[in-house]
Amino acid sequence: MPAPRRNVELKATDPDPERSLKVVQGLGADDRGVLHQRDTYFRVPSGRLKLREEEPGGASLVQYDRVDAAEARESRYRLVPVSDPLETRLALEASLGTLAVVEKDRHLLLWNGVRIHLDAVAGLGSFIELEGVADDGSNLLGELERVTQLTEALEIAPERILRTSYSDQVLGFDALIDAARTVRERAHAPYSRFAVGAALRAEDGSIHVGANVENAAYPQGQCAEASAIGAMVAAGRTKITEVAVIADSDDFCVPCGGCRQRLREFIAPGAEIHLCARNGARQTSTLEALLPRSFGPEFL
Ligand code: THU
Repeated sequence: MPAPRRNVELKATDPDPERSLKVVQGLGADDRGVLHQRDTYFRVPSGRLKLREEEPGGASLVQYDRVDAAEARESRYRLVPVSDPLETRLALEASLGTLAVVEKDRHLLLWNGVRIHLDAVAGLGSFIELEGVADDGSNLLGELERVTQLTEALEIAPERILRTSYSDQVLGFDALIDAARTVRERAHAPYSRFAVGAALRAEDGSIHVGANVENAAYPQGQCAEASAIGAMVAAGRTKITEVAVIADSDDFCVPCGGCRQRLREFIAPGAEIHLCARNGARQTSTLEALLPRSFGPEFL
């Protein structure tokens, strides 16, 4: 079986793409022009799978796995040329479901075996990606050194380096808030008429949702956060990394006191809690701010 291909890569935000282009041109990089790419990411049980449709170029199915890390890191991937991208996309959409679609213009340059991508990503902004493509059997040290040399020449400060893929960014925040918004529509709140939706992101990136469920015997009602926590635990996750709460109101929805304590049981330190309003406004807080000096599992 052929081994997956490997490279060393680094992705960062790029506040000044014109300057980056000048820097890499100054280093003598070979300019391969601008490509338009449309990546469709599918819902898969492990790693990532996307169909890349490229103009000019063609289409390929890309499978890869990467440990998210805030430095140049190794990526292993397989590339499968696709001759009928439309049928392939429809077949994968029908069987797996689509996670995200990311479109970008990519200015591609090559320098000493490193692919330099100056990317303008729809809805996200400008980024620079460096990919040191590895030869078979390489220990990756040479690739890492060349990526580091370019990082220095481009003056990419550590705080600009990104851990996640474009699909995660497209999915990230909006997906969590959309999930809370959608589940709120399923709330059972005939007594208060105050429908609440909550979405929790667990450590592995999975999203778990819940709505408030009221009861004719009023005290038996349950908050949205409690429902979401139940769904998360039932799915086998016990660490919350991000929360979104939304109600049927133009005010920011804040978790009640009891739910702050419920979240306290599972939430990671510093995790963001997005208090959302129906009109799209939001405020971001943390459990430390909402429930200072709290009691938790470590006391027992
Ligand atoms: N509610 C929640 O679901 N979460 C909160 O944190 C605040 C309150 C629900 C409970 C009840 O069904 C309705 O909102 C009115 O209190």
